[in-house]
Amino acid sequence: MAINFNESRTKENLMRAFAGESQARNRYTIAARTAQKQGMYAVSQIFLFTADQERAHAERYYELLKKSAGETIRIDGGYPVDHFDSVEKLLRSAEHNELEEYDNVYPAFGNIAKEEGFIEEATAFYQIAEIEKVHAERFGKIAMLLENNRYYESPEEEEWMCLNCGHIFHGRLVPNVCPVCHYEKGYFIPADLAPFLEHEFLK
Ligand SMILES: [Fe+2]
Ligand SMILES: [Fe+2]
Repeated sequence: MAINFNESRTKENLMRAFAGESQARNRYTIAARTAQKQGMYAVSQIFLFTADQERAHAERYYELLKKSAGETIRIDGGYPVDHFDSVEKLLRSAEHNELEEYDNVYPAFGNIAKEEGFIEEATAFYQIAEIEKVHAERFGKIAMLLENNRYYESPEEEEWMCLNCGHIFHGRLVPNVCPVCHYEKGYFIPADLAPFLEHEFLK
């Protein structure tokens, strides 16, 4: 039988998770602006896309806190200051934080919730942990491409999508402007990271 929610560690962990997700959303929104200022529009959109998913995570945790409506929950916690000009560094620190949530924080919160008898809360922690893994992998992949000068060029023929007009460019080196809409090359994204493209396994 579940212990009293008001006396549970799960109540505090839900508030910690809500705080963490809220901050991640803001950090990614700020990182998106940094990327945009440096002409990396596609990377900026990836940060915004992820920021919106962090909002959805925050919303789910907040929903589970409804039992405490009207109360103030005090928590302690450590939160990162990932304030960098380097987009690679922003991506790597985001990857690090996502992995921490996936590997440590949310599984631990899930286990505590389970021990305390809060199955729905435990499930939310475990499910959201899996999503953070996907976030970590995407941030890590883009960071790796940028660090190795492989974001806009490749030794083999590759495909990129212009996120402004949808043009698919085939080649080894993304042109300085999109040949169709003439937007800057920062709008191009490697095709395997592009949204809504038909992937091999669907063919
Ligand atoms: Fe999240
Ligand atoms: Fe995330």
